[in-house]
Amino acid sequence: MNMHAAALAKAHRFDEPTSAFAGDVIEGLSQPAKRLPPKYFYDAKGSELFEQITRLPEYYPTRTELGILRERGAEICGILGQAAALVEFGAGSTTKVRLLLERCRFAAYVPVDISGDFLNAQARALRKDFPTLDVYPVTADFTAPFTLPAPVKAMAKVGFFPGSTIGNFEPDEANSFLRSARKILGDGAQMVVGVDLEKDERVLHAAYNDAAGVTARFNLNVLVRINEELGGNFDLAAFSHRAIYNREHHRIEMHLVSRKAQTVRILGRSFAFRAGETIHTESSYKYSLDRFAALARDAGWRPMASWTDAAGMFSVHALVSGA
Ligand code: AVJ
Repeated sequence: MNMHAAALAKAHRFDEPTSAFAGDVIEGLSQPAKRLPPKYFYDAKGSELFEQITRLPEYYPTRTELGILRERGAEICGILGQAAALVEFGAGSTTKVRLLLERCRFAAYVPVDISGDFLNAQARALRKDFPTLDVYPVTADFTAPFTLPAPVKAMAKVGFFPGSTIGNFEPDEANSFLRSARKILGDGAQMVVGVDLEKDERVLHAAYNDAAGVTARFNLNVLVRINEELGGNFDLAAFSHRAIYNREHHRIEMHLVSRKAQTVRILGRSFAFRAGETIHTESSYKYSLDRFAALARDAGWRPMASWTDAAGMFSVHALVSGA
């Protein structure tokens, strides 16, 4: 916890996650270019909205990645180590991992996620469906170092990071994450990463500006959380959703646009917005196969193979640790 968050926690009797949220919100909204970290989208309501996004006709990534795992899963398993422990970084829905668990012979599955309750419920369901698989959930922030459960330490390790969650990281953060994953998984480890690809901007634009407005509700949900958890007074009707493709940086940017000049109060502080000023709430980086391979190499991984769908919308990469 940073000093700012520690002081806030004391003044408002917040628990640690809430004071970390408070610290990040105040820091982000105090910048000349206001921003909020995308990880705060995912409370219960936000996770439900994201599930709805994955079913939208315009939102191609989830169904495309599932298709690749379904059609190429056996091939992917073929190049992964046998009797390995599969370590998933950030474990939401188990739909994707099940496709690998059904096709590869893993000795153990280690889902790592910040939300312990959800994790344990998912683990119970998996143990029932895969009776010979040992499941060892770890409650941790997967972007920071954590220790693997003792029983898997001697096994070969395969990391799993699907969903193009890596696209939410700035390129330097993606590099640090891949380095940290290599340290956690150890020498000789392998990794399977799902990465969204650059494509026609109209397709990207539609995927993040869906006609039903679900992505808009998902984006605005972070303001709902600030109001509910930190006693903020955001007027939701005074902010609108905007997603644009930033070609220079190869990323979709989501913003919340202030529809007028206004002042918002959070935790005794005032934040002034000009009309049209935005809060940058998420970047979703899109890679080419080569640019992702270069990123992996820079972080100490060697690309082994990659798979895409026929239309080249999404990619799955297999990496092995070391040069
Ligand atoms: C979960 C980070 C992969 O960037 O496409 C969906 C989140 N944001 N619609 C993405 C998201 C807006 C999603 N990731």
